[in-house]
Amino acid sequence: MSSDLDAQLQAIRADGEQVFADAATLEALKQAEARVLGKKGPLAALFGRIRECTPEQRGPFGQRLNEAKAALAERAQGRRAELEQSAAAADLKQAQAFDPTLPPPVVARGSVHPVTYVQWEVEDVFERLGFSVVAGPEMETEYYNFEALNIPAMHPARDMQDTFWLTSGMLLRTHTSPCQVRAMERFGPPLRVIAPGRCFRYETIDASHENTFFQLEGLMIDRHISIANLIGIMKLLLREIFKRDVKVRLRPGYFPFVEPGFELDMSCSICDGAGCATCKRSGWVEILPCGMVHPNVLRFGGIDPHEYTGFAFGLGLTRLAMMKYGVGDIRVLNSGDLRPIVYPEKFSGTPITMAE
Ligand code: DAH
Repeated sequence: MSSDLDAQLQAIRADGEQVFADAATLEALKQAEARVLGKKGPLAALFGRIRECTPEQRGPFGQRLNEAKAALAERAQGRRAELEQSAAAADLKQAQAFDPTLPPPVVARGSVHPVTYVQWEVEDVFERLGFSVVAGPEMETEYYNFEALNIPAMHPARDMQDTFWLTSGMLLRTHTSPCQVRAMERFGPPLRVIAPGRCFRYETIDASHENTFFQLEGLMIDRHISIANLIGIMKLLLREIFKRDVKVRLRPGYFPFVEPGFELDMSCSICDGAGCATCKRSGWVEILPCGMVHPNVLRFGGIDPHEYTGFAFGLGLTRLAMMKYGVGDIRVLNSGDLRPIVYPEKFSGTPITMAE
């Protein structure tokens, strides 16, 4: 009987030693220990069989069992120490593999929106000319958007600008021109301001029309301001922005808040004046409507038109960005297209369109 139990004990011990030696991780070792040395393990079962021995054999067999148990526990402990050491060595190796002098991975930082970039450029030009940058509200009153700009309620000129009316009776400004009378009221003459901002029109969207776009209003009021001042500054502006002489044409234009009023067009830089979808095949892009401030508008702003004159312009900022960076379709600018534009190089290449 005893020799049979002894044989089993040998087998359990040999097996346990092997299992502990084979454990490749601390977790595997923990499981092996529970299996071999645990309460439901083979060793515990042999303890339960001591009573099968003769009384003389019990003592020595129990001793051998205890020895075997202690030896196995020691083996497990030894293996644990080995595994812990190699884990620490691996950690150390990894720590040593970290080279703090290596350059970090390149993180794409994104870039400023083309319209914002052009706005900054224009602001820069005008700040050098002594203009201040002001802002007006995007949700406007009918008074500032129309009335004070010499566009009374029944005037057909209201139809020129399809308007988003709000239920409150206010509206989303259709242009940045309401900033004119606001600036006159706030600062009084003499006055040099520009007012960049978002505008809204109830438009059918196509390659050159959006219901949300950006303009930059300009207003200069002083004694003896003339059309010569207006044209001089407009030309300077375009030259600064495009870093070259831009071909322009001036034609009469009707806007109720200026008299005389002009349309200043630039040669389309998408097609180089040949005619494309962006310029409606005309080769010209309306970019700078402008004129001499109408006496009525000066009066609305509390300024005496006999003493002061001024010019105003409403630069199409979105269009300017399109011309400058060769964006052939206005919808691209609101599309989340993240292709980077390389600033501040002049555009030369294939126009960016929606189809791409
Ligand atoms: N506010 C006009 C528009 O959006 C543009 C404009 C025309 C602005 C002539 C002006 C100006 O300041 O003088 O259609």
